[in-house]
Amino acid sequence: MLALTVRPMEAGSAELRRVPEPDVADGAILCETVAVGIDGTDEEIADGSYGEAPAGREHLILGHESLGRVLEAPRGSGFATGDLVVGVVRRPDPVPCESCAAGEWDMCRNGLFTERGIKGRDGFVSERFRIEPEFGIRPDATLGALAVLTEPTSVVAKAWEHAELVAGRASWTPRRVLVTGAGPLGLLAALLGVRRGYEVHVLDVVEGGRKPVLATDLGATYHSRGLDHAGEGFDLIIECTGVGPLAFHAVRHLAANGVLCLTGISGAGRETSLAVDDLNRDLVLGNRAVVGSVNANRRHYEAAVRALAEADRGWLARMITRRVPLKGALDALDRHEDDVKTIVEVAT
Ligand code: BGC
Ligand code: ZN
Repeated sequence: MLALTVRPMEAGSAELRRVPEPDVADGAILCETVAVGIDGTDEEIADGSYGEAPAGREHLILGHESLGRVLEAPRGSGFATGDLVVGVVRRPDPVPCESCAAGEWDMCRNGLFTERGIKGRDGFVSERFRIEPEFGIRPDATLGALAVLTEPTSVVAKAWEHAELVAGRASWTPRRVLVTGAGPLGLLAALLGVRRGYEVHVLDVVEGGRKPVLATDLGATYHSRGLDHAGEGFDLIIECTGVGPLAFHAVRHLAANGVLCLTGISGAGRETSLAVDDLNRDLVLGNRAVVGSVNANRRHYEAAVRALAEADRGWLARMITRRVPLKGALDALDRHEDDVKTIVEVAT
């Protein structure tokens, strides 16, 4: 079958190649791939700065934001031919650590976890893939191909859950929230924030194009003139840019008891000077917290499924701004101006 592969840590190695059919070791459910979303992690892997091939192999099949349609599923697996399925990205480490043993592989303590399309396991940009029944998620059937947004939504569902858990350590109610970044993660974080009843503000650098429209159509307030113009005193901030200087500047925009949740993975290796004593004082005197959040476990995928099922279909459809066929999958790795989410469409 045809697949988009890379040789991890080798820039420019992405190519479309013929590969063997998916290995039964990947799971008892065989799917035809419907669509796969592309994100910054895929771009970094293609740039040669991230990723790991399966043990003993040179190539990795790229793509972790999956949507497939079941071709074959064993009886009793909970899935039947024709069902839509989204594959969970991470697999618990083999030890397993305390978190992985509890089904919280997103909180793995020893780093020995694997991730489909990222770390030690093939991903989904191929004609077919396999998945274990226990790592298959059933999206809302009426979403159709829009269910490809389930994985990125699961990542922000976790971020909200964790931000609220930290905020919930004392009896006060967060109301005003800021999402930094109006890329797919930021916009999906804003969708979930509005759904939770918050007053949502979204910050990005672009002044025009699709992002401000998508944010304001949710009922959020869009800001493009920098953090200092976006306001002070946010109760929760979900950071979705991965821009280190912005992430730490955001601490100064938290209200007392506020929580800043970092979800962006920065690749740039920037250094900057920080007023560390002021930062320390703000955190201590305001009971403020900064928390990192990565990946998602089943609970977060399920929260994502519920949120997407209730979301406006037209808005979700406008999030997908570029669709490329499998044969053109290499193009999906090049970012175009005003792209929000690019997907590789395999079978529709
Ligand atoms: C994926 C996560 C993954 C993370 C780090 C993100 O793009 O959505 O599932 O844990 O990259 O590899
Ligand atoms: Zn673990």
